[in-house]
Amino acid sequence: MSQTTDDRVLNRTRTARRRHYLMCRPAHFDVTYSINPWMDPAQPTSANRGLSQWKWLHDLFVDLGHDVELVEPIPGLPDMVFAANGATVVDGKALVARFRHQQRTDESPAYLDWFRRHGYPEVRQAEHTNEGEGDFLFTGTEILAGSGFRSVVRAHQEAQEFFGRQVVGLTLVDPRFYHLDTALAVLDDGEVMYYPRAFSPESREVLADRFPDAILAEEADAAVFGLNALSDGLHVILPKRAVRLADRLRERGYEPIGADLSELLKAGGSVKCCTLELRAAPEGEAGH
Ligand code: ARG
Repeated sequence: MSQTTDDRVLNRTRTARRRHYLMCRPAHFDVTYSINPWMDPAQPTSANRGLSQWKWLHDLFVDLGHDVELVEPIPGLPDMVFAANGATVVDGKALVARFRHQQRTDESPAYLDWFRRHGYPEVRQAEHTNEGEGDFLFTGTEILAGSGFRSVVRAHQEAQEFFGRQVVGLTLVDPRFYHLDTALAVLDDGEVMYYPRAFSPESREVLADRFPDAILAEEADAAVFGLNALSDGLHVILPKRAVRLADRLRERGYEPIGADLSELLKAGGSVKCCTLELRAAPEGEAGH
């Protein structure tokens, strides 16, 4: 009998690789408008709780040995805490977001400025609607790109040209999972977990074909934002309510760490949304 998926992936030895992240302190966090189904401005939010939950995540990254940089929060931009949306950074090149909703458009100049001041040689704002790592996820070789709610298909082509990396387009169909990073997470080079029903039938086929060993999330885990997770190759930080997903990760040799970001979830974001990964040029020569 041929080797099964499980033989190949179960109990694999995992190793953490030191990462470089950009985050934004939720100094002005609130839910004052609604641009996704999770946001209800009538529901009360606690700025202090949001801040302490975010700080827990920030401090965890530092404790795990990662480098964390900060972009200055701007008053009047309550969603700026979701740094993943600010840009996509691969090979030391930064493609800065162009937001779909007017409520977030003023975030882009802050990211442009940040990358310019930190010496990134190739920085530009996307011409087409592009919500950064919310919709563009790097697998180690190629870029998976979502469309359907925020980023547009034209932005996928633009990213392919900018990065010179293959971009694989995926169509999102469930408004609860409006960004790719709410429906799929990259765990290690070429290894992912995702919620199939967030994708169109054609995109499900693309995913099944490319990632036959993927962890498939159940509705219950996806619905608590379990896929809005961040992996360093060993530790996978994910919402703590996604208990089945945590078990599946453990079976594969990962170390899941449960996070409580309930305040930020009121805006439709969690672990991954708060974190933008800064990937240096291959030789480690990226200017930062
Ligand atoms: N309220 C924000 C929005 O709707 C949440 C963004 C979440 N970020 C993410 N990477 N999925 O734009």
